[in-house]
Amino acid sequence: MGILEDKSRARLFYKYLSKVYDSVNPFIWNEEMRAEALAMLDIEADDRVLDVGCGTGFGTEGLLEHTENVHGLDQSVHQMEKAWDKFGKHDPVSFYRGDAERLPFRDDSFDVVWSSGSIEYWPNPVLALRDIRRVAKPGGQVLVVGPNYPESTVMQKVADAIMLFYDREEADRMFRDAGYVDIEHREMGPSYDPDVAITTVARVPEE
Ligand SMILES: C[S@@+](CC[C@H](N)C(=O)[O-])C[C@H]1O[C@@H](n2cnc3c(N)ncnc32)[C@H](O)[C@@H]1O
Repeated sequence: MGILEDKSRARLFYKYLSKVYDSVNPFIWNEEMRAEALAMLDIEADDRVLDVGCGTGFGTEGLLEHTENVHGLDQSVHQMEKAWDKFGKHDPVSFYRGDAERLPFRDDSFDVVWSSGSIEYWPNPVLALRDIRRVAKPGGQVLVVGPNYPESTVMQKVADAIMLFYDREEADRMFRDAGYVDIEHREMGPSYDPDVAITTVARVPEE
C-alpha cells in the first residue's frame, strides 16, 4: 500500500497541497479531460449529484454545468475552504466534511456520483465504491477518475510506493467486487501524457 493511502497522511498532505492545488492541477487534470469524463455520463438537469473527494471544487464546477443540485464531500477542510471561496458553503453546492468509505447520506439518494482524483488515496477503494453504490439510486451512474498504472517497471515501483495506480483490469475487479454493472473505461490525459488517467463509468444494478 502506498504512503498516501492513509487517511490522516492524505489529510496532512492536502493541508499543504491545497495552497497550490489549483495552480498545479491543470498540468495533469484539465478542463478538456473533465469535459471528456462528463460526456461519459447522462446527467439530467434535475439530477441530484454527489462529488466524492471534491477538493477545491474542480470537478464540482464541471458538474454544475449540467445540474444545479450538486453536493460535494471531502475529508480535507483545507481543500474545501478553497471550494467555499468559489461557491460559498451552502448554495449552489452543499458541502460536507466526510470520508469516502463512510458517506453521511441515506441509501438511494443520488442519481449520479462523481469522484475525480480521489480514489488513489482511499485505503479500501472497494469499501468506498460499495458505499457509493449504497447512496446511488438503482440504475444510477457512478464515475471515477484515477491515475492509470504506468508502463515502465521503474515507474510502477515509484507509483506503488506512493498511492493507488491501476489499469483497466484492476478497475474492472474493483467495480465488480463493489457490485456494479455496465463497467466501461477510458484512458485520458493532456497532450504530452494522453494516458495518465483512467476514467471508469459504471451503473448501480436495478433492483
Ligand atoms: C487530487 S484531489 C481531487 C480534487 C477534485 N475532485 C478535483 O477533481 O480536482 C483529491 C481529493 O480527495 C480527497 N480525499 C482523499 N481521501 C479521501 C477520503 N477518504 N474521503 C474523502 N475525501 C478524500 C482529498 O482531501 C483531496 O481533496
